[in-house]
Amino acid sequence: RITVKTLLILGASGDLTGRLLLPGLARLVSRGRADGLSLVGAGSDAWTPEQWLERIEESFADAHSQAEAYGRRELKRIRESSSYHQLDVTAEGQLAGLLAQLEGPVAIYFALPPRVSQLACEALAPGQVPAGTRLVMEKPFGSSAESARHLNKTLAALAPEDHIHRVDHFLGKATVLNILGLRFANTFLEPVWNREHIEKIEIVFDEDLALEGRARYYDGAGALRDMIQSHLLQIMALLAIEPPASVEERDLRDAVATVLRAGSIKAPYAKSTRRARYTAGSIGGRKVPDYANEDGVDAARGTETLAEVEVQIDNWRWQGVPFILRSGKALGIKRKEAVVTFRPVPHLPRGFTGVDSPNQLRIGFGPDTLQFDVDVNGPGDVLSLDRATLEAELSGSELLPYGEVLEGVLTGDPLLSVRADTAEDCWRIMEPVLKAWARDSAPLEEYAAGSDGPDSWPG
Ligand code: BG6
Repeated sequence: RITVKTLLILGASGDLTGRLLLPGLARLVSRGRADGLSLVGAGSDAWTPEQWLERIEESFADAHSQAEAYGRRELKRIRESSSYHQLDVTAEGQLAGLLAQLEGPVAIYFALPPRVSQLACEALAPGQVPAGTRLVMEKPFGSSAESARHLNKTLAALAPEDHIHRVDHFLGKATVLNILGLRFANTFLEPVWNREHIEKIEIVFDEDLALEGRARYYDGAGALRDMIQSHLLQIMALLAIEPPASVEERDLRDAVATVLRAGSIKAPYAKSTRRARYTAGSIGGRKVPDYANEDGVDAARGTETLAEVEVQIDNWRWQGVPFILRSGKALGIKRKEAVVTFRPVPHLPRGFTGVDSPNQLRIGFGPDTLQFDVDVNGPGDVLSLDRATLEAELSGSELLPYGEVLEGVLTGDPLLSVRADTAEDCWRIMEPVLKAWARDSAPLEEYAAGSDGPDSWPG
């Protein structure tokens, strides 16, 4: 059951609210999982009440069309009772003034760029944040280890850690959560889930989307900050953690924090990292301009749109096993998966012919699939090996990732959010790379939009 009375979204006129937050909320509301909740929007734009209601209606449309009568009534109730407030959240007293009018407990969702979130929190005095308030911070959480530490400190003065939700919507993705079930509810994987049997783990999130008008944010972030520092490190952590005693917040987040503390990217960075930027090309018949010529891009910044890093986890289980994290935009083939490559058999009995390749377990993120490649005796010559794939489609969640994340906020469960120490640690892992890249230690390569990356990168 939800414990929050009012969800206050800051940045309500922004893109994230319309595209992801409100649709996620609508799923919850239409399934009777946010009964009694009020929704309040605040933003810097001078929106009329009608504009806000229109935005809600648009974002709720999908859930509305799928909902039963009860769900539709709830969606209508929440929309019609919602209000919009024009605010400068960084100006002292403005956010506090609005908070004082709202029925608590309130969850304040900072759907704002990190710098603005920092200023908004600084503009609040501890006494202006009633007990029970939940503070929900969007990613990226800060823009460096230093700024993440600073933001954590500011937040800690306003609310206890278990009331602070640092959102990483990948933790709300069903497939990512399925990693836990797969690893810890089956006996056959755990005995081989270590350096003895695993050669490498790749986590790939290649998108066919390009910049899509997000230059203002993305050109200052790049692929490493946008995807790898946050989402892919979280997936890596779930693949690498020790078996927790429970999947409750404390046990799970302790395990995640412990494994990330053992993670680092080793110099020389020209060897352990790669980066590239797309040039003009076409994706599925759609023309994509050179990144450097996209509206709002400062080409001199050298922002990467494709990045790959090799993370090492220095502990007994993973010593020497590379975790290769890669993500990029404007690629020809959408590839979103974790691939676990096992070591080859120590000895293939003489007499076998045909393929002899290592087993691979592939966990696909949207569509959610599980594939296990094995070598088996093929048809015909029984000693000739064939590659077979055991395949399963995983069932998704009825809530969208943002629905899962919001449910955690509204029910007061921080399980699916990033803990303070972990947020700082993710920056600690990436910071040496960001600094090395700023010194030009790894060349910024090029790839044509629609290709599968620079020619010089092995596939
Ligand atoms: C966001 C990134 O956090 O995640 C985007 O800012 C990226 O650049 C997106 O496209 C991917 O997530 P999803 O859920 O849309 O696949």
